Amino acid sequence: MAMRNSTERYGWAAKGLHWLTALAVAAMFPIAWWMDALPMGLAKLEAYGWHKSLGMTILAVTLLRLSWRLANPQPRYLGDSGWQRRTATLAHWLLYACLIAMPVLGWLMSAAANTPVNLFGLVVLPNPIAPDRALAALFEEVHGTLAYGLLALVALHVAAALKHHFRDRDATMRRMLPGALVLLLAVGGAAGAVRADEPPRWRVDPDGSRIAFTFTQLGTPIEGAFRDYEMDIRFDPDEPAGAVRVVIRTASIDTGDDDRDSQARGPAFFAVDRFPEAVFEAGEIRRRPDGYEAVGTLTLKGKTEPVTLPFTLTLEGGTAQAEGSLVVSRHTFAIGTGEWATNNAVGDEVTIAIAVTATPVD
Ligand code: HEM
Ligand code: HEM
Repeated sequence: MAMRNSTERYGWAAKGLHWLTALAVAAMFPIAWWMDALPMGLAKLEAYGWHKSLGMTILAVTLLRLSWRLANPQPRYLGDSGWQRRTATLAHWLLYACLIAMPVLGWLMSAAANTPVNLFGLVVLPNPIAPDRALAALFEEVHGTLAYGLLALVALHVAAALKHHFRDRDATMRRMLPGALVLLLAVGGAAGAVRADEPPRWRVDPDGSRIAFTFTQLGTPIEGAFRDYEMDIRFDPDEPAGAVRVVIRTASIDTGDDDRDSQARGPAFFAVDRFPEAVFEAGEIRRRPDGYEAVGTLTLKGKTEPVTLPFTLTLEGGTAQAEGSLVVSRHTFAIGTGEWATNNAVGDEVTIAIAVTATPVD
């Protein structure tokens, strides 16, 4: 996993700082309530010491985190509702504001109460203001009240994260979770979580789909297609993520001429008796400036080679239309041997064009 953010996901540094903060903030409240309830004595003073030290650490981590945020691209908001995006942005900035205001108020309160902050018993921080009983009481009041504002914001924040995960089923939560946790969720999580973790499956409409190819024979371009194939597609265009497996029955080759087709099925070309299937398998789908690309392998005539299929996607009323093409070298797969081996007889480059019309499987 990368250290830095991209416009799609958080890097491990941002994730680490987020979860360190979450853990520290979660610890602050029980410590505060516990220290408050303790009778005056050494234990209470020690508890105050822990609360203050951890609180000042949260301030340092937040300042570091904000600098990191400024130096990094921000993952784009997932979802298409404008007000939700604005609310999320506002809530995140309010969280940052609280993460700074709470420790600063605590520090000011301590200084006003003439009790300097001793960081983990290691360093005594300077007092930013002179002792003042009235001010100490005021800062205590604001610190105590804001603490519950922060608690409410965190509750809203967690609820929103869970809504993104379980209701919208987008990647908002997954991209903030550490990799190990994502794995745990995928393996042992609730059924809903597991389903949300898997990119949706698509049902391919054969009438709107096609696997075609173009090659040249004695300098003349010839088009053809495979008529019999199966496509297993999982794809989430938002993330993007997914996996594709296309199995083509090579005997279904159709170049519009019976003689040419039977020759193509023969041993010099596809040798369909020995190699009845060609398989395109892609385990990774990435975004490109003009669409996507499926990265995987093509197995043809018993030979497997890495290939990348760039494609564009249009979504209309729940129906997806994808179109892509790639150029392969027929020699790489030993298609056309013997007298057909020269590029004059059959050009080396073959363009494979794939069109898919599909609807999501519920
Ligand atoms: C005290 C605890 C927490 C605090 C103070 C906190 C604070 C924040 C802040 C300030 C951001 C914005 C990060 C940015 O600059 O992009 C953020 C993002 C996020 N937080 Fe938390 N968080 C806390 C706990 C949690 C918990 C418990 C969860 C999950 C249940 C969670 C899930 C997320 C997610 C998913 C994002 C990413 C949102 C997005 O990509 O748009 N947070 N958090
Ligand atoms: C994110 C950081 C912090 C959080 C979430 C937090 C939260 C709290 C909470 C919930 C209370 C109890 C309020 C009540 O029920 O009366 C409290 C009290 C207190 N906090 Fe913090 N605090 C933070 C940082 C700090 C820091 C950095 C200091 C000092 C340097 C500090 C000093 C105190 C003190 C002295 C009290 C006791 C006030 C009293 O006597 O009632 N806090 N804090």
